[in-house]
Amino acid sequence: MPGYPVLPEGIAYGGDYNPEQWPEEVWHDDVRLMREAGVNLVSLGIFNWSLLEPAEGVYDFGGLDRVLDLLHASGIRADLATPTSSPPVWFRRRHPGSRLVDREGHVIAGGSRHSFCPSSPEYAAASARIAERLAARYAGHPAVAMWHVHNEYGWANPHCYCETSAGAFRDWLRERHGDVAALNAAWGTIFWGLTYGSFDEVEPPRIAPAGQLTGLQLDFMRFSVDAHLANFRRERDVIRRFSDLPVTTNFMIPNCKPMDYWRWAGEVDVVSNDHYLDAGRADSHIELAMAADLTRSVAGGAPWMLMEHSTGAVNWQPRNLAKRPGEMRRNSLAHVARGSDSVLFFQWRASRYGAEKFHSAMLPHAGTDSDLWRDVVDLGADLGRLAGVRGSRVEAEVALVWDWESYWALELEWRPSVDLRFRERMEAFYEALWREHVTVDFVHPSADISRYRLVVVPSSYLLTEESAKNLHRYVETGGHLVVSYFSGIVDADDTIHPGPYPGVLREVLGLSVEEFHPLRENESVPLDGEGLTGRIWSERVRLAGARAVRNFAGGPDAAHPAVTCHGLGAGTAWYVATALDPDRDTDADAGRGLRGILGPVLDRAGVSRPRDLPDTLELVRRGDYVFLINHGDQPVTVPGMSGTGVFDGAEYAGSATVPPGGVTVVRSAGRA
Ligand code: GAL
Repeated sequence: MPGYPVLPEGIAYGGDYNPEQWPEEVWHDDVRLMREAGVNLVSLGIFNWSLLEPAEGVYDFGGLDRVLDLLHASGIRADLATPTSSPPVWFRRRHPGSRLVDREGHVIAGGSRHSFCPSSPEYAAASARIAERLAARYAGHPAVAMWHVHNEYGWANPHCYCETSAGAFRDWLRERHGDVAALNAAWGTIFWGLTYGSFDEVEPPRIAPAGQLTGLQLDFMRFSVDAHLANFRRERDVIRRFSDLPVTTNFMIPNCKPMDYWRWAGEVDVVSNDHYLDAGRADSHIELAMAADLTRSVAGGAPWMLMEHSTGAVNWQPRNLAKRPGEMRRNSLAHVARGSDSVLFFQWRASRYGAEKFHSAMLPHAGTDSDLWRDVVDLGADLGRLAGVRGSRVEAEVALVWDWESYWALELEWRPSVDLRFRERMEAFYEALWREHVTVDFVHPSADISRYRLVVVPSSYLLTEESAKNLHRYVETGGHLVVSYFSGIVDADDTIHPGPYPGVLREVLGLSVEEFHPLRENESVPLDGEGLTGRIWSERVRLAGARAVRNFAGGPDAAHPAVTCHGLGAGTAWYVATALDPDRDTDADAGRGLRGILGPVLDRAGVSRPRDLPDTLELVRRGDYVFLINHGDQPVTVPGMSGTGVFDGAEYAGSATVPPGGVTVVRSAGRA
């Protein structure tokens, strides 16, 4: 990989740096304070296009030259950005055809970033030009460590419905389907008599009076990913003509549904990700862990970079909560534990202007006499002590199947229940495993899964025959598989697999489903044994080789199977026909949900995990380091820990005690 590792000396620490918002004398203060905090990498120039090219073809690099020289003199490296996520005002005025159009046909206004059509040829030309100027000028600058193309592709302008996009979409369809008869067959256009006579008749899925062809919608989503990818590749390839430093673009895993990051993964030299906590959730640290595990998986298990997160509050949620004491440190170290080689923030210095003036920063409006600044300095020192973790890997024995195409397809309109949400089941299974202290990878359903002891399929409504065969092979050759309801229902065009549900999974699961019985909002159904309760879903399962592990004890499917188990070849496949909650470590919850079902499956699959730890203690092993993150308000003693405490140099022989809210990292520890 070109130029990896980005910073050979250790974990990268810093954030987005926007010196253009401040007079030059402040820059000197910035670098002095950056050094005080241990900052060694800043992302620079992300929103600088109007400064660098104040009028079309007129350039001014003076300010950027001076900032880069100043950073270099201070030993701080730059992740130099192309500024193409925020085209200048002149660009929009000169090229009205490049304006973004929404599904209702509104031309989206300016006065913001990301306001351009991803298929615009004018945008393609202008973005390649500014990228080329930057790469040519700064490829040899000693401060530059890596390239940061654009910012968060597909976040604010995932789809454009203008006539230019419509034309590009038709070309894309010709390429995918070959002829219009194949397109008609794939989309099932015979339904409602919607058959196309030629590709020219196809419109993008603009707002429609009633349910719209789902094949059309899915293909438009795929096309839109390709439109953004083409923009990234163009800039990346321009940069590569001048520089062999790593090129990245910051992803938004998992909070940018329209981008299929499996498709993006191979395009960047190092995967980087932005992650912000949902402050409304009390368990937001579990969602953070999921995001980090998914990012590592998108990176193919290689170390990745946390490109942005926040020191405290963001500015764009309904209630923007400041982080609680210790929370920033726990969040940062959880990302490192799960494979990140950097802790970077949006942003270095809090802005005074515009939309994000209430967003937190490393250097807050309150200045350096603040708890937040002291925490930032302390974190920099801790990361310095963790330098040896850079480059090491996280191993997982369990994989969750995650497919963006299934995410899109499941959440199109007119499904059996509005409560069928991709993230709902994914997070339920992830949380149950997190509370069992099991580290997981995520995989595409067609990936090589042979190395995992257990593979879980929480929400794969769309599953191709080929992927189903992959799962089948996995079980036959000794794998353990858990599948949740409403998986394996349709193919890549959203056409139902022939025969009873769940089409391509019937054989591996040893059952079929005769009828779906979605539950009312807030309704629940009992299962027999241990007080298990299902929500959202019930269905009539017919066994064909599998045996029932639990039956429904009430509701529309009373006395019929709710959880099943099927031995196939050398492996076993389980099926869960309702939504069980990831029970927590409380007496009231114990064994009443998913963990009650998953625990024995983990044992059967031989998944190693520490026992007798409270589920508020996060334990992750990365290389020789064990990260112990205490999210609870009581100290926790973790047995099986031997080695050296990275932050305090303490020697542990047999156990380590982690204070409430604290993080302990033990090097060369024995297995928990
Ligand atoms: C990110 C974005 C940053 C900043 C941040 C605020 O999505 O890349 O530029 O806007 O959000 O949380």
